[in-house]
Amino acid sequence: MKLSAPIRTSILGATVAGLVATGLLVMPAATAAPTSDGPSAAAAPDIPVASVQAHLGELQKIAEANGGNRAHGEPGYKASIDYIKGKLDAAGFTTSVKEFTSGGATGYNLVADWPGGDEGQTLMAGAHLDSVDSGPGINDNGSGSAAVLETALAVSREQLKPAKHLRFAWWGAEEQGLVGSRNYVNSLPDADRSKISGYLNFDMIGSPNPGYFVYDDDPAIEKVFKDYFAGLNVATEIETEGDGRSDHASFLDAGIPVGGLFTGAGRAKSAEQAQKWGGTAGESFDKCYHSSCDTTENIDETALDRNSDAIAHAVWQLSS
Ligand code: TRP
Ligand code: CA
Ligand code: ZN
Repeated sequence: MKLSAPIRTSILGATVAGLVATGLLVMPAATAAPTSDGPSAAAAPDIPVASVQAHLGELQKIAEANGGNRAHGEPGYKASIDYIKGKLDAAGFTTSVKEFTSGGATGYNLVADWPGGDEGQTLMAGAHLDSVDSGPGINDNGSGSAAVLETALAVSREQLKPAKHLRFAWWGAEEQGLVGSRNYVNSLPDADRSKISGYLNFDMIGSPNPGYFVYDDDPAIEKVFKDYFAGLNVATEIETEGDGRSDHASFLDAGIPVGGLFTGAGRAKSAEQAQKWGGTAGESFDKCYHSSCDTTENIDETALDRNSDAIAHAVWQLSS
C-alpha cells in the first residue's frame, strides 16, 4: 500500500503512518487472502477499442494494396497472416504458420501459444482471417481477428500467468467451408486434441446494425459471456443465424466444448430487437455482408468494444 501523504482524519488525530510506526496499527497485507468461495480470476483489462480499430485499418490497407480483398489463395490473405504474426512474435508468443491446400491454392492457419500454463488443459480462442473475394472483409472477419489479436497482446502486456495453457488461432479458407479449422483439428494427434478444454470463436463482432448473440453450445462458456453482458446491462440472445457456419463447428464436431459471440450477418433486425439494442428494424445486421462495402466504415464501434472486452473477460476467466 502506498501512502503518499499522512492521513490526518484518522484515530485521535494521529497519522496512520505514526500509528504504524508505534505498532498501534497493523496494516493489512497488500494482497487479500482468497474469500470462502475460493480464489478468483484476476479481472481482465479493458481492451482499447482504438487498438482494435487500428488493426482493422491495417487489414483494410492490406486489401487495398492487394486487389481489394484478403481471400484464400490471394496475396492479401498471406499479407494478413504476416501482419498478425509480426505483432505476436514481438509480444513473446510462440507462433507457427500451418499450411494446407484448398481448391488448388495454399492456405495458412496461424497458431500462437502463450508460454506457460498446464498444456493438458489448453484454452483456445480464434477467428477466421480470410475475406470473401468481393471485398476487404473488415467486419467479416477482420473484427474477430483484430479483437483476438488485441486480447493476445493484452495477455502479453499483463504477462498473464494462467493456470491453463493459452493458444490463439487465425484460420484460413473459412469462406471455402471451414477448411482451415477443419484441417487443424483433423491434423491434431488424438492425444493433443483431448488437451483442448475449450474453443472460443469470434466471427463478425462489429456489425453496423448490431445484435448481441451468444453461442449456446457449452453452458459454462455461454454463462461467462451472458454474465458479462448482463453486467453491462446489454441484453443478449442465443445465436441462431448460422448453426455450423463458422469455425467452432470444426471443434464441436470433435467433441470439444465451444462458445463464441456474433453481431449478425445478412438477416434483418426485428422491431423487438431494435427496441432492445437500438439500430434499424427491417435492415440487415450487416448490409455489407460479403460485399465490397465491408470496409472500416462497416463497423459499429460500440459493438466492437463490448465484444472485445468480453473476449478478454472470457479468456481471463476460463484460463484461471
Ligand atoms: N462466417 C460466416 C459466413 O461467412 C458468418 C456467419 C453467418 C456466422 N452466420 C453466422 C458466424 C453465425 C458465426 C455464427 O457465412
Ligand atoms: Ca474496451
Ligand atoms: Zn463470411
